[in-house]
Amino acid sequence: MGFIEELEKRRTFGIVSHPDAGKTTLTEKLLLFGGAIQVAGAVKSNKIKKHATSDFMEIEKQRGISVATSVMAFEYKGRQINILDTPGHKDFAEDTFRTLTAVDSAIVVIDVAKGVEMQTEALVKVCKMRETPMIVFINKMDREGKDGFDLLDEVEAKLDMKVVPLSWPIGMGQRFQGVYNLYKKELILFRPHSKQDLQEEIIVIQDLADESLESHVGEAAAKELREEVEMIEEVYPELNVEDYLAGKISPVFFGSAINNFGVKEMLDCFVEIAPHPLPRDTEERRIEPTENKFTGFIFKIHANMDPKHRDRIAFLRICSGVFERNTNYLHVRQNKKIKFSNPTAFMASKKSVVDEAYPGDIIGLYDSGNFKIGDTLTEGEVLHFKGIPSFSPEQFRYVDNADPLKSKQLAKGLSQLMEEGVAQMFVKKNNGRKIIGTVGALQFEVIQYRLKNEYGASCSYEPVNLHKACWVSCESPEAMKDFMAKRKRDLAEDIDGKLVFLAESAWGLKMAEENHPDVSFHFTSEF
Ligand code: G4P
Repeated sequence: MGFIEELEKRRTFGIVSHPDAGKTTLTEKLLLFGGAIQVAGAVKSNKIKKHATSDFMEIEKQRGISVATSVMAFEYKGRQINILDTPGHKDFAEDTFRTLTAVDSAIVVIDVAKGVEMQTEALVKVCKMRETPMIVFINKMDREGKDGFDLLDEVEAKLDMKVVPLSWPIGMGQRFQGVYNLYKKELILFRPHSKQDLQEEIIVIQDLADESLESHVGEAAAKELREEVEMIEEVYPELNVEDYLAGKISPVFFGSAINNFGVKEMLDCFVEIAPHPLPRDTEERRIEPTENKFTGFIFKIHANMDPKHRDRIAFLRICSGVFERNTNYLHVRQNKKIKFSNPTAFMASKKSVVDEAYPGDIIGLYDSGNFKIGDTLTEGEVLHFKGIPSFSPEQFRYVDNADPLKSKQLAKGLSQLMEEGVAQMFVKKNNGRKIIGTVGALQFEVIQYRLKNEYGASCSYEPVNLHKACWVSCESPEAMKDFMAKRKRDLAEDIDGKLVFLAESAWGLKMAEENHPDVSFHFTSEF
């Protein structure tokens, strides 16, 4: 198979949802269809259960699982499908944001009873920022939930997206009889049978006026379905694949992941319409996946849990060309050539060394500390991929050394954990004190635990009253000098040496913006 065929075969996507909506269950069913696993229950949930938020062993266990499930690849209908796992816990939201930089499309799972939840909103916002095409799966139709039309209204309003239902439910909960596939004009009947069963009962009904509908779902449900479908046809547009690919509309499917119902319809549509690897922007130029020179970027770094083997796995998304084993590539930030003897591909739960990988593929590179999130690898061209920003953190603490004999270990540990993207560190300009900023409170405990466990270092925290950290820039050197002189005690540097303003309150930030109109304040590190 040639390069272009390999490229066009790939579909790389992520599933986003609020915890408990059914992401793990859906992932597992997709893998079953792809023949990548044989039994249900093979995919472990990587979520940190609510009750275990401060159980460190649990965190460690979950980290182990999440390496295995970081990327799950399988083949289906001639496509190579790469599912990128996204952590569900809100404290790891930044990890999820970064993973979404490596996908070409997304599936959004929504619980029919709960509707659009907070985490879904945040993640969809990130997908929209990048115009990532999305398909929506309304899950748990075997339970009582919201009315279909109300739910679609809620999705449109809260997620600010236009939707096109491609399947429509017939009843729900106890009365759930199945779905009508509006795309294929097929009636799919729900029989709460074995959860392993991949066969569905499909009846082709091209025209809903067909009287046989009654014999399958009964009179009342048939009448209701006809009325609802008529309404759908009036209210919603037909699927325009171009609009989907441009991130302007999202097809919606209804089903029940646990019962393996409605999943196949979505998967069949997904392989038909989801985009193959898309171009990616760098600061220098746009990279087309069809270019024959290899380029790629690191979007995730995972440390080995065994403290005796301090190596890490850096996850590389291939953007163009063919990545080859044992070939020298330019590590742009370090301006040095490196080659990889054991690049790893992830086929479902199996890992294996690969000789080559194509655009859209994710491979794991063993790393002894060379990489940092956002790093670029190329065949020689100096490029910097865009869209892998750090987000302005919301929780802050001073971090201090609690064991003076281990200050080197602490410095190394902190720097490596920051490179992995666990949290962000800022060094204050006026006194050199270090402040750790995170999205969630859990990270503080994770850092303390990992420093001890992996680096033998101890840290203590001290509260610091901060509202936001924002990156600053300014066109005028004089205005910048004035700003820096006046706000010295509120300034710090991030690990890349970029200038950061630490605002004590929303009001303080507003005042700084008003007093220094020439200075721009940014809420992500990329501007
Ligand atoms: P997540 O990864 O998005 O957090 O969700 P996950 O798949 O773990 O699913 C959350 C819960 O919802 C699980 O139950 C799962 O069995 C259930 N679930 C998933 N899909 C459906 C569905 O279509 N219908 C119904 N009724 N339930 C569904 P749990 O009790 O939390 O866990 P478990 O003990 O079943 O593993």
